[in-house]
Amino acid sequence: MCGIIGCTANHSVVQTVVDGLKRLEYRGYDSSGIALVSDGIKTIKAVGRVKALEQKVLGERATTAIGHTRWATHGIANEQNCHPHLSSGGDFAVVHNGIIENFAELKDFLLQRGFEFYSETDTEVIAKLIGYYYRGDTARAVVKATRRLVGSFALGIVRSGENKIYAIRRENPLIIGLGENFNMIASDMPAISHLTNKFVLPECDELVELCAESCNFYNTNLEPIKKTPQTVRVEQNTFDKGGYSHYMLKEIYEQPTAVDKTLRKYIVDGHISLPLKNYERLSIVACGSAFHAGLMAKYFIERVAGIPVDVELASEFRYRQIPSQNGRAVIAISQSGETADTISAINHAKAQGMDAYCIVNQKNSTLSRICTPLYTEAGVERAVATTKGFLTQVIVAYLIGLSHSMDKSLLYGIENFGRDLKTALNSTDLIQPLCSRFYTCPYVMFMGRGDDFPAAREGALKLKEISYICAEAYAAGELKHGSISLITPGVPVIVLANDPSTGSKTLGNIIEVRSRGGTVITFSSLSGYGLKEASDYFVPVPPSPLASLLSVAELQIFAYYIALAKGCDIDKPRNLAKSVTVE
Ligand code: AGP
Repeated sequence: MCGIIGCTANHSVVQTVVDGLKRLEYRGYDSSGIALVSDGIKTIKAVGRVKALEQKVLGERATTAIGHTRWATHGIANEQNCHPHLSSGGDFAVVHNGIIENFAELKDFLLQRGFEFYSETDTEVIAKLIGYYYRGDTARAVVKATRRLVGSFALGIVRSGENKIYAIRRENPLIIGLGENFNMIASDMPAISHLTNKFVLPECDELVELCAESCNFYNTNLEPIKKTPQTVRVEQNTFDKGGYSHYMLKEIYEQPTAVDKTLRKYIVDGHISLPLKNYERLSIVACGSAFHAGLMAKYFIERVAGIPVDVELASEFRYRQIPSQNGRAVIAISQSGETADTISAINHAKAQGMDAYCIVNQKNSTLSRICTPLYTEAGVERAVATTKGFLTQVIVAYLIGLSHSMDKSLLYGIENFGRDLKTALNSTDLIQPLCSRFYTCPYVMFMGRGDDFPAAREGALKLKEISYICAEAYAAGELKHGSISLITPGVPVIVLANDPSTGSKTLGNIIEVRSRGGTVITFSSLSGYGLKEASDYFVPVPPSPLASLLSVAELQIFAYYIALAKGCDIDKPRNLAKSVTVE
């Protein structure tokens, strides 16, 4: 979370930095700011989206500048807390992505020495500390200050009077982009890939010193080190909504293409080819929707291939003692490849000697570099709520199961998934009127059995993140074990029913809900179980061995139209960021 960028050149870079901030806005969008270097440092800050900052910098010029787009960790979103932060006297400005865990202790240290603070942030402590250590050599001051930091950071630092940017990272991502008469820092490659394809990726605690014509790297003892730039072709970010009112809707409708592209990558001449060895057991680690993709994978892989799969939240796995690892591999699932907890979980697994893979969408992301990538071909996903990212993750995970399955008929089902998905996406006419009926509800319950349970969890997450309606999913069999107490007259209950082996059990749950006055909306591919008759509303799901996944697409549409009816900021929901790069 939070995006940093900086550029130093022999021409004005103000607009370049603002454009970069727009490309990084998915990392946080509560406020943004820029520091312009000349004989002094001028900071300009704005609360809200980067376009508010863009208005404020009109007419400004500087050949060296750093910028930041914020997702608040320490202190509310206001101009005081907005980066860049300044040292005492304002000679140094710092932009920061990460969290300094010992900031309170460092702040005390500086307070005792007479320093004063204007913000609640951990970043201001870094700026003050660099000022404290400065004795005429900026590089040395930065290294001394960062030695005292505990936590994660990617920092861009400028000093008044120096046409240079200093940068350093620990755990958080930092990219150096090299150009003709300009050099840049950024949180990711897509932020600057329209300007250069020559990149260097600094290792932890290596100091980078950039000016327009040169870029130098130093180790922690400030000895020069040689780094070889890589030429990387980065998929260009698309800022085009393609006629849709929101990126989320566009991305929902891009799913059949994304799925087909992903399948074509791994199924060649009817055979699945994946860079994954054979293992006795798999551990999947992920967060949020990617965790739900992992749960869907577990049900499927265990059923079709008989390989035991454990699925864990990355934030839990990273701190756990993992029992003996023989014959077991870990697979991270992540759209961005930059999720801090997922990266740490992988590092934890690798430290225990486990082979590590990732199902990841972003090429050249941190995860794709630290483990063997199995790329999804979702393309750039711009809406914060993942849709095509999620679906393609599940598809790749299903291919893992199918590649170990004896039942080759399932391959046919997955190859036809894109076609069935298009049919499911045609249900908008049925779903949209339901949304006008339910968008004022304060609470929506979801339930399902088997594959429908993780599918229901993903549907509930989609609804809550973009519409702010309290939505929880339960395994239908758990209903009587507590959650049925939430059913009062009119409470909407979304039921997924796609598994013929439990169709009649789910019918029983529907009847129980309706007996207590709940309003049941069933999404189902089953016929002949009386589900439609028993429900208040019924949305058909195309019959398919992967019908649960098709219902997720229909629930994405449901969430979208509910949020639209409520007038929510669908592509950038409050308090969220596309990529969660802090713990
Ligand atoms: C999904 O809609 C969410 N915004 C979120 O749960 C996301 O899936 C999670 O943060 C993991 O992100 P990743 O796939 O980039 O690792």
